[in-house]
Amino acid sequence: MKKLGLAAVSFVISSVCVSAQPPAPVALTIDAARITARVSPTLYGLMTEEINYSYDGGLYGELVRNRTFQDNADAPEHWSLVQEGGGTGAIALDRSQPLNAELPVSLKLEVTTAASGARVGVANDGFWGIPVKSRTAYRASFYAKASAGFSGPLMIAIERTDGSAAFASATVTKISGVWKKYSVTLKTGEVGAPLIGRLVISAKSPGTVWLDLVSLFPPTWRNRSNGNRPDLMQLLADMKPAFLRFPGGNYVQGRTLATRFPWQKSLGDLAERSGHLNDSWKYRSSDGMGLLEFLEWCEDLKMEPVLAVFAGLTLDRQNQKPVPAGPELQPYVQEALDEIEYVIGDTKTPWGARRAKDGHRDPFPLNYVEIGNEDFFDRTPGSYDARFAQFFDAIRGKYPPLKIVATTKVTSRVPDVIDDHYYKSAKQFQADVHHYDASDRNGPKIMVGEWATREGEPTPNLGAALGDAAWMTGMERNSDLIVMSCYAPLFVNVNPGGMQWRTDLIGYDALTSYGSPAYYAQKIFSLNHGDAVLAAAIENIPAETWQPPKPRNSEVVPPTQQVPTFFTNVTRDTKSGTVFVKLVNTSALVQPVRIEVKGAKSVAPDGEAITLSGSAPTETNSITEPTKILPVESKVGGLAPIFTRELAPYSITVLKLRVK
Ligand code: AHR
Repeated sequence: MKKLGLAAVSFVISSVCVSAQPPAPVALTIDAARITARVSPTLYGLMTEEINYSYDGGLYGELVRNRTFQDNADAPEHWSLVQEGGGTGAIALDRSQPLNAELPVSLKLEVTTAASGARVGVANDGFWGIPVKSRTAYRASFYAKASAGFSGPLMIAIERTDGSAAFASATVTKISGVWKKYSVTLKTGEVGAPLIGRLVISAKSPGTVWLDLVSLFPPTWRNRSNGNRPDLMQLLADMKPAFLRFPGGNYVQGRTLATRFPWQKSLGDLAERSGHLNDSWKYRSSDGMGLLEFLEWCEDLKMEPVLAVFAGLTLDRQNQKPVPAGPELQPYVQEALDEIEYVIGDTKTPWGARRAKDGHRDPFPLNYVEIGNEDFFDRTPGSYDARFAQFFDAIRGKYPPLKIVATTKVTSRVPDVIDDHYYKSAKQFQADVHHYDASDRNGPKIMVGEWATREGEPTPNLGAALGDAAWMTGMERNSDLIVMSCYAPLFVNVNPGGMQWRTDLIGYDALTSYGSPAYYAQKIFSLNHGDAVLAAAIENIPAETWQPPKPRNSEVVPPTQQVPTFFTNVTRDTKSGTVFVKLVNTSALVQPVRIEVKGAKSVAPDGEAITLSGSAPTETNSITEPTKILPVESKVGGLAPIFTRELAPYSITVLKLRVK
């Protein structure tokens, strides 16, 4: 038996392999009188970027795909010609009739013949379908310009995909010969079960019309125009996240300087947003989710923004050297200062005034700015150190209270926070839960700004949730040091072609969404932590034998290891006195735990338990079985200063004790 002597917590590993025999009880002794750390109030947050159709085809409410006809230079992707009742016509991309310089391509619809009863038009198939729901008001709009001899009307309708029925429609009677925006509300009646449809704009008489920025929004969260999808916002709101790290990830970087996140071009009227090629994840972004929309998303969910700024390193490291510190980098430093000014500047500043013009007079709260993303990939000696110093000096000089996050270790300046990333297997996380126990407490704080157990796709399975939970006990125990943590990626559209990165927290299609088991593990931890970590000693920790994988670029098989299968952390909410005992059993066996609470006057006999469990690590939730693995809340009796609980196999439990 090996005893690990740690200041705050002690762990004693008992057995070396899991046998068929019921395991010996784990002995957990909690010292309610001894606080070992303060839980960071911002410990649990969210990380987001445009990946896996997170915004377009995801959170961002827009239902029309390729609304400005720029997704493919050669063909109007996701648009098709509708010819009915003997009507004939053609559609084509047209660069000779641009709406403006930002939206240089329009769609030309030529109606050649349209006798009575005929119609000719264009249909959009949405992001894997346009969702049609009963009694729903959709806001539709488009820009149009008619040729001489055509003045409308144009019909706009939400229809069955084969056009056999319209669920909602409206007519725009007159179309002008100059570009003009037309807006209508499309209200559905009773449609039965929600279904996938299409959006059609059509004419009944011959002539030519050009279209651009064709848009359809369902009701959005808080009814914001250009807003977010309510079911996904609800899933996020239910996690009570403290912050949002955005806009990346790789998305902030781009593969080239030209394709970094263009925050300036993501502002203002949608007709002024050209969108950009998101070559980090290989699809075009409409930039409908722009800088202001990120900030309003934070506002809506009471999250503080953690703003990542582009810092000179792109993803095409073969062909693009990082921008060297000095005069060449200065424009990017200025961009970052401007971006911060847009977020927090008063309305007398140029970018604060721009924010007010865009509809948000009040500055947003901002405490953290991150300089770049994953700059440990920058192999040019000294490059990030120098780039970081230039950003650091400029930001600290102009905005002294802001905390500055480095994406890897630097020596040129002392960052306030370092952003660590971990993508691992469940076993790797289990083996590494003491990662931060002995870390230096006098240096920068840590943000674990991306992490996930990558098991299961498109969304993580129960085994992954167990690995996550094990890792979270370690982060929480060390949350005097780890001020923020956020899982990544957050979202995935589960349709074929929707996923660029496997294992994502929340899945959806056009109609429904679901939380993965890992989502529920996050939620349980985020909602139940209080403000203080209590001292805890653990004996008889069960373990299992694990063969670690070969390191990358090595043929040497590492020796097998014993990895624990039981994990815990204990916290307390000072105000209410509730003690949260988190217990994670990653094994296939029922695990008894003897819990002793010392240093307290009393432990109330009744408490509560929240449990997430299943019968196999491979069990999961999916778009067709969204609620297979869900947390179960129950009342618990028989609690006392010493009591025993049995943990279900493959389970995450939070015991809520009332301790005085
Ligand atoms: O989360 C997916 C990607 O992983 C992020 O964009 C990047 O920062 C990391 O490499």
